[in-house]
Amino acid sequence: MPLLAGRRAADHGATIRSMGNAAEARRSITDGAPGRRPVPEDEAAGGPLGGGAPEGGARTVGLSKVYGTGDMAVRALDNVSVVLPAGRFTAVMGPSGAGKSTLMHCVAGLDGATSGKVYVGGQELGALSDRRLTRLRRERIGFVFQAFNLLPTLTALDNITLPMTLAGTRPDREWLDTVVRVLRLGDRLTHRPSELSGGQQQRVALARALVTRPQIVFADEPTGNLDSRTGAEVLALLRGAVDDLGQTVAMVTHDPAAAARADAVVFLADGRVADVMDAPTADRVLDRMHGLGGLS
Ligand SMILES: Nc1ncnc2c1ncn2[C@@H]1O[C@H](COP(=O)(O)OP(=O)(O)OP(=O)(O)O)[C@@H](O)[C@H]1O
Ligand SMILES: [Mg+2]
Repeated sequence: MPLLAGRRAADHGATIRSMGNAAEARRSITDGAPGRRPVPEDEAAGGPLGGGAPEGGARTVGLSKVYGTGDMAVRALDNVSVVLPAGRFTAVMGPSGAGKSTLMHCVAGLDGATSGKVYVGGQELGALSDRRLTRLRRERIGFVFQAFNLLPTLTALDNITLPMTLAGTRPDREWLDTVVRVLRLGDRLTHRPSELSGGQQQRVALARALVTRPQIVFADEPTGNLDSRTGAEVLALLRGAVDDLGQTVAMVTHDPAAAARADAVVFLADGRVADVMDAPTADRVLDRMHGLGGLS
């Protein structure tokens, strides 16, 4: 896929271009960014994605997730088969409790499936040892948690670079500076999370997910705590990363206008896929959400 072929490339490419040398960034993405492991031949061949997305993308096949047992059992996901195509921006919507966070956690390998399968770039997660799963998460996935999950004793900068500290690699200084600038964190880097507003903590969490240039970024309500200007900038950053860098993004949101920035919207209700909408608009998303029983 041509990296600049996204239908919104024209309007949002400027964001990423203003963030630094996009051509250079693209080259390092396509050639293998620092810290990213080369894709082995068996994965590059496409595996179960059928020649699909060695450089990114994910899918679930009949994924179910049950929390608890007996009377306490909650079926958070029920036979969910979805595709998060490589180099595309997919939004996930649905009423509270629909299973959105659970889906993100399972696809990102943070939580195991009860049944069904999850593939990331052709690799089935259930077939991996704990060690290889940890490595895949660290090297190929960026996750923005609904509750941020920042370490309270670390400064903002140390939180942002934590994935690299854990992996024993160094951040790409230019990209780190770019992310920090776009997320307007420059004057907050030495603060601890308790000294940051909710929106600032969210931006630190987002910076941490982006700084390694993972193949897939999962963002669970990344604009939920942001003022409208910063929220719009975060969406432009994600959109630009998809259009200009070929990044794969999956984002949970309750906001139809945010979902309209995606290439497609997956609607969940009661743990099932209720609908998938391509080329969403805010109005169509709003209508569909009303049909599913509300916006919360
Ligand atoms: N660790 C857990 N143990 C038991 N039940 C859980 C657990 N995590 C989630 N659930 C339940 O699974 C269902 C789906 O939860 P999930 O967090 O995925 O919903 P969500 O769509 O992200 O909702 P929200 O929009 O409120 O964030 C809910 O009924 C929730 O109570
Ligand atoms: Mg959630």
